Amino acid sequence: MKKAVSTHTLQKYKQSGRKIVALTAYDYSTAKMLDQAGVDVILVGDSLAMVALGHKTTHAVTVEEMLHHTRAVTRGVESSLVVADLPFMSYQVDLTQAITNAGRFIKEAEAQAVKLEGATELNLEIVTRLVGMGIPVMGHLGFTPQSIHGLGGTRVQGKKAEEAVKLMHDAMALQDAGAFSVVLEMVPAFVAKLISERLTVPTIGIGAGNNCDGQILVTDDLLGKYTDFQPRFVRRYAEWAQEAHEAVTNYANDVMSQNFPNEAESFSLVKSEEEELLELLQASTLPTWPSN
Ligand code: KIV
Repeated sequence: MKKAVSTHTLQKYKQSGRKIVALTAYDYSTAKMLDQAGVDVILVGDSLAMVALGHKTTHAVTVEEMLHHTRAVTRGVESSLVVADLPFMSYQVDLTQAITNAGRFIKEAEAQAVKLEGATELNLEIVTRLVGMGIPVMGHLGFTPQSIHGLGGTRVQGKKAEEAVKLMHDAMALQDAGAFSVVLEMVPAFVAKLISERLTVPTIGIGAGNNCDGQILVTDDLLGKYTDFQPRFVRRYAEWAQEAHEAVTNYANDVMSQNFPNEAESFSLVKSEEEELLELLQASTLPTWPSN
């Protein structure tokens, strides 16, 4: 069994130049597959609102739903570091709300860390307090989906030099507050490179070029399972939806043609029991089937 990945492992990987492999999971069997494939970090992302629950944005998913999925994921994982996303409006109100909700992911769902979006004054305070309590926190900057309306849509962030400098300040502030890692989403590669070089904690990129300390994708995008849209930064490694469609069509055809199930997929009676059963039926008051 692979040694369990911790936040310290990720720190070592950054120092040695070993890239960090991260993916999302929302259920037991996917989490188990990622864990067995050696993925370092499994994020129970609030992207599950869109990918698994069919919402148009990440806003609708609740703490209870995130907990439900995080529990399923942690049941399937032995080695990967499981990070749970704090969903929209579960930490933005005040410190008490943030601490209470973050604590639930560790206590009730056995996640090892939580993630939050942005570097507001309150967020930095939340990070400091959670880290002080022994709860590791991952930051998330650049395009932060929970702020999609405020950002005017899904847009690359930090394209202007001044915006890029602000991003760097935010990344530094998260690190100084105690974040063990920072996700950079939809940030120009050059900006992500500069941030990654300046931070001592690892950056995990998604649409942020290949100079981050690690990469994350939504697993359903990578597998071609979620097909509503495909962001430019996604590389598909499988065509799951297509293959699954073919498989289901073949199953339907086999059912209709009585090609499924076959003998090996069925349970049989020993001949003597079969004969006795027919005799018992003859002698019983049960109607004699088949009627035609
Ligand atoms: O919710 C999510 O899946 C994420 C990753 C894409 C970084 O935040």
